[in-house]
Amino acid sequence: MPNKQGKKKIKKVCIVGASGKLGRYMVRHALDRGYEVVGVCRERSVGKLDAFKGRITVVPGPTNDPGIIKKAVAGCDGILTVLIPWRIQQYSSGTAQAVLDHAPAGARLIFSCGWHITRDGQDVYSPGFKALLKAMTWFMRFIRVAEIDDQVKACRRIFASNTQWTVVRGSSLEEGESQGLPVWSRHIGDPILKSDMTRRIDFALFMVTALEDDGLIREAPAIVGCKTPSALAFK
Ligand SMILES: NC(=O)c1ccc[n+]([C@@H]2O[C@H](COP(=O)([O-])OP(=O)(O)OC[C@H]3O[C@@H](n4cnc5c(N)ncnc54)[C@H](OP(=O)(O)O)[C@@H]3O)[C@@H](O)[C@H]2O)c1
Repeated sequence: MPNKQGKKKIKKVCIVGASGKLGRYMVRHALDRGYEVVGVCRERSVGKLDAFKGRITVVPGPTNDPGIIKKAVAGCDGILTVLIPWRIQQYSSGTAQAVLDHAPAGARLIFSCGWHITRDGQDVYSPGFKALLKAMTWFMRFIRVAEIDDQVKACRRIFASNTQWTVVRGSSLEEGESQGLPVWSRHIGDPILKSDMTRRIDFALFMVTALEDDGLIREAPAIVGCKTPSALAFK
């Protein structure tokens, strides 16, 4: 589906989860666009942002801490949030709630998640995908590594909010040079998504580009790399 370019003027953005791989790519894209950048990451991960020293402001702390988020998002026109389900601590839903509660009115809110999130139940998943997701959700919780279902809860809260949100649903990811802006569809099962692969740098590009794309407000685009066979075949 073509991206409609919108009009929202963005000057200052907050990147919540800035020290991860996706987060650091987003910092790069945001700086390339000339945005003022505030990054939030766990205290022990601040060093992972050393490459950007002097060019961004870092607010250290857990991303699900409302006080940290309130401080970090003040004055921001856009907030890019990496929703991650690690540990058994409601980290995704806590992070999403803090952003929803403290984002300045009218700010563009962009969240990341995976294809397993469905907004309207119209996504079509293969039986293998559904079985694997169910098993992984149970197993990761059992070994107390991750709460995949908490990411689902986080997204339900976002979908129900009346903010200017976009939830970007990433396919499987790989590293590598940028191939350009991914293509997207509203629903898993669309043949354009069949290749199920996106460069992580381009996932970040889609998130940052979405800040100024009003056509993506209250959408949950499922993305795939623009040079993958399915994207080339069905574009
Ligand atoms: N990986 C995939 O194949 C895939 C596929 C589809 C969608 N996605 C989505 O892409 C986004 C990022 O995925 P990614 O693979 O690229 O990961 P990533 O960017 O490397 O992000 C990992 C994040 O998790 C944080 N983290 C790690 N362990 C943690 C812990 N115990 N407690 C709290 N935070 C912790 C990291 O923070 P520190 O820097 O502080 O460690 C970092 O911000 C997520 O929204 C995910 O749902 C991923």
